[in-house]
Amino acid sequence: MIPVTKPFLPPQQIYQSYLDGIWKRNWLTNMGPLASDLELRLQEFLKVDHLLFVTNGTVALQMAIKALDLKGEIITTPFSFVATTSSIVWEGCTPVFVDIDPESLNIDAAKIEAAITENTSAILATHVYGNPCEVEKIDRIAKKHNLKVIYDAAHSFGVEVKGRSIFEFGDISTCSLHATKLYHSIEGGLLITKDPVLLKKLASVRNFGISGFESFDELGLNGKNSEFHAVMGLANLKYIEEISKKRKALTTRYDDKLKNLKARRPIWHIDSENNAAYYPIIFDTEELMLKCREHLQLNEIGTRRYFYPSLATALPYLEPQHFPVTDDIAKRVLCLPLFYDLTIEEVDMICRLLLRIQNN
Ligand SMILES: Cc1ncc(COP(=O)(O)O)c(C=O)c1O
Repeated sequence: MIPVTKPFLPPQQIYQSYLDGIWKRNWLTNMGPLASDLELRLQEFLKVDHLLFVTNGTVALQMAIKALDLKGEIITTPFSFVATTSSIVWEGCTPVFVDIDPESLNIDAAKIEAAITENTSAILATHVYGNPCEVEKIDRIAKKHNLKVIYDAAHSFGVEVKGRSIFEFGDISTCSLHATKLYHSIEGGLLITKDPVLLKKLASVRNFGISGFESFDELGLNGKNSEFHAVMGLANLKYIEEISKKRKALTTRYDDKLKNLKARRPIWHIDSENNAAYYPIIFDTEELMLKCREHLQLNEIGTRRYFYPSLATALPYLEPQHFPVTDDIAKRVLCLPLFYDLTIEEVDMICRLLLRIQNN
């Protein structure tokens, strides 16, 4: 069986080498030394001013909305993982969907202004598959209408635009360090902001809003992460260059071998390099996608309809709404296997099967 994804695991001895210290210190969670060390190392690796290591990417989104004190409507994309929309609803705000661009698959910046009302407080956009949104355009729109911007950068670990970390854009960016991600800490998330005041607030929100032994600054939650998760993050960081190199090589191989498939790839931002977080393809027809998916399944090859269905039609707590580009792309997109342990030979086999199925 070839799964669609498989978590990277560092050598067990490396993980174990941190455990003695944890046992000696008996400090298991609550901003421990390893979690703090991970934050510093990630800050350096990602070239960002500040970041916080939190429970997961979903809690990071909720904390971002809370810390910015957002109310009313938040403009967002229907082509994302459920957490992007559910966090908005969870925080008592209303998601207002805007259709996506058919090439980048990100929110169509040209359609945002038409969705702004007097109740709009923010834009929450996803860098889909790690591919940067039109950050400069979105920034201009936000400034013009006095809106906050949150980027759901769950997929964007290591992505840069014009040499600058993608996490530096917007008021706050969030990232997921879930086990299935390119870089992970089993469960985990990041909050990144350039604003030191906002960072302080986010740090307080992460720790129940506690300001002293007997005092509270604000409403908070438990967004902390543990020393054991930090260890996985620290250990995996030693391998990140190797992981990225391998995933990029596999991506190039897929690209080379699938040139004649009746499908296309999303178009990546011109000033940025693909971080190989996923390998999505958009088939010419849903029928061909379903046929390929079924045959790959019969050959024990996992794929994922990521993202399907559109969030604007799928969620029982929202009135269904149709967006032509999202509905169309969501029906035809399929992610192929991509993970560190996947071999070039396996990629070749997947590509051979796809081309054979298409021609049958
Ligand atoms: C776009 C997007 N946003 C948010 C999340 C949530 O992250 P987590 O699973 O770490 O809570 C994910 C997870 O897959 C995601 O893909």
